[in-house]
Formats: sequence, C-alpha cells, structure tokens
Amino acid sequence: MLSKNLALCFIITLLFGSALSSSAFAAVSYEKEELVSSTIKKWQPKIPENEFPSHQPSIVSGKEVYKMHCAMCHGDEPNEVLTKDQLRSKSPEEQYIIIKNGNAKGMPAFKNKLSRDEIWDALMYVRAGVLGYYPLNSDELAKMNAIFGGNCAVCHGTRGHGDGPLHKSLNPVPANFNMFQRLYTRSDNRLHKELTHGIPWTAMPAWKNRVDFNQNYKFDDEMIWKLVTYVRQFGFSQEIDRLDIGRQKLKDYEKSIGKVK
Ligand code: HEC
Ligand code: HEC
Repeated sequence: MLSKNLALCFIITLLFGSALSSSAFAAVSYEKEELVSSTIKKWQPKIPENEFPSHQPSIVSGKEVYKMHCAMCHGDEPNEVLTKDQLRSKSPEEQYIIIKNGNAKGMPAFKNKLSRDEIWDALMYVRAGVLGYYPLNSDELAKMNAIFGGNCAVCHGTRGHGDGPLHKSLNPVPANFNMFQRLYTRSDNRLHKELTHGIPWTAMPAWKNRVDFNQNYKFDDEMIWKLVTYVRQFGFSQEIDRLDIGRQKLKDYEKSIGKVK
C-alpha cells in the first residue's frame, strides 16, 4: 500500500514537474514579462519565431536589396506603386509572408532568392519609403521624442521596452515596441485604432482629442498617425542615423568653408 502511494506521489511529481518546466521553456522563446500578459492570445504570430528578423532590420541594406530585386516592378522609389493605405492595412508579418511566397496579383515568391533578413530589410525599406518613417536625426523626431517622453514613457519606457516606472504595477504589462513578435504582427491601422480608442481592460488610455497643455498640441488624427510611425522606429536599426549625420556634417563643413550658403 505504502509503495503504491509512493509510486502515485512520484507520478504526480513527475506530471507537475514537467508542466512547470514546459511553461518555463515557453518563457524562453518570448521575452521576459511579455509572456504573463493576459493579452498574449491576441498576438499569436503566424510565422515561427525563427522567421522573425535575427537582428533589427536595416533600411540601408534594404535599399540595396530593393534596387536589385524589387525596383524593376515597384519603381525607383517604393512609393511609386504601393500606397500608404495598402501598407497600413497589413502587418509587417503578413507582408513578409507575401514577399516570401508571392501572391496571385503578380508578386513573385522570393523564398529561394533572398534570406529572411534580406526580405525583412527590403520590407522595412519599402515601409519607410511609403509610410515616411522618421530619419533618426530629424527635427520632427526630436519633437516626437518629447511627446512620447511626456505622455507614454511613464509606462512604455523611453526606449519603448515597456519598462517605464509604472510598468511593475500593471497587468497586462505595457507593450514592448522592440519586440518583433508583438509589433510586427500588428498593422498600422490596428495601432492607430488602439491609440485612438485605448485598449479595453488595460492601462492603455484613449488618446483621441486629448490636449497636452505643456507642449501646446492636440492628439488629433494626424498626431495619432505620427505616434504610430514613431512607435515603429523602435523596430529597425539606427544605421540610417549615421548616414544622415554624415551627410549633415558634410553640409555643415561645406557651409563653413563657404561652398554653399
Ligand atoms: C515581377 C514584379 C515584382 C517584383 C520583382 C516585386 N514585386 Fe512586389 N508586388 C508586385 C505586384 C504585381 C504586387 C501586387 C500589387 C497590388 O496588390 O496592388 C506586389 C505587391 C507587393 C507588396 C504589397 C502586398 C500587399 O498585398 O499589400 C509588397 C510589400 C511588395 N510587393 C514588396 C516587394 C519587395 C520587397 C520586392 C523585392 C524583394 C518586390 N515586391 C518585388 C510585383 C513585384
Ligand atoms: C498608463 C500606462 C500607459 C500609457 C501612459 C500609455 N500606454 Fe500604451 N499601452 C499600455 C499597456 C498596458 C498596453 C498593453 C495592453 C495590452 O497588452 O493589450 C499598451 C499598448 C500600446 C499599444 C499597442 C501595442 C500592440 O501590441 O498592439 C500602442 C501602439 C501603445 N500602447 C502606444 C502608446 C503611446 C504612443 C502612448 C503615449 C501617447 C501610450 N501608449 C501611453 C499602457 C500605457
């Protein structure tokens, strides 16, 4: 009898142990607290984790891929054929799947021609060109840094990691904008809607028509689109920054020697 009970105990421990360790295992494949977010079901990715970018996509490398493989159909500039509305209606993940597998409207499949990172780089270049991502040293970005810092960073953190001072007391935790599995599975239209109306049963407020009296601006539709674009810039490499800074330095230098006014 005793040995039977012992055996039962053993089995129960085994079952429990494996349940615990398998949940611990799942935690490894996503990032830290994000897993405990009760909203995790809403953003289950369609592609496996190893198809998300292996590092932050680079718009600079994407431009090279684009020139070689995409420009012959899409035009020298990505905004010649594709429109804002079209790109806003799908998530980066859905667009990655179309570039990889092609579609019936004539978009060819690139899965045997390009690596996953090349596809992501090209896609980010296309999105930046059509949706107007901020060049990272622009005046506009500096303005947006102040707006994000004053209104969002308290929850989302200044670098958008979801680690602002309030984050520990919130469930679900604030979104981490650097997390590909999360932000790349949402369309811009969806982010715009979430910013406009807030997210029910979470701490995420509705921003439409709020006013920031300190900085003297209103959260109208245009500002909300700017915030969507701003939130996106956490998800790609800052490489473009250095290039733009280089150009700016050259301009300043030329100005200093009187070459240009
Ligand atoms: C042979 C011509 C051709 C080439 C090469 C090509 N595309 Fe396309 N692409 C198309 C066509 C046609 C469509 C469909 C247009 C539409 O839906 O209005 C499309 C659609 C797209 C879309 C939008 C998909 C959607 O449904 O919203 C993206 C993004 C895209 N292409 C990116 C790329 C990238 C990145 C490359 C290079 C790696 C590329 N394309 C190369 C022809 C091409
Ligand atoms: C009081 C805390 C708080 C503030 C302030 C806040 N947020 Fe959020 N936000 C959250 C939480 C919590 C979530 C996650 C909700 C969830 O998991 O469903 C979220 C989610 C989001 C999402 C959706 C991300 C996704 O994965 O769909 C966006 C976009 C966003 N916030 C942008 C902003 C911006 C921009 C600001 C400032 C204008 C801001 N938030 C201010 C708490 C906040």
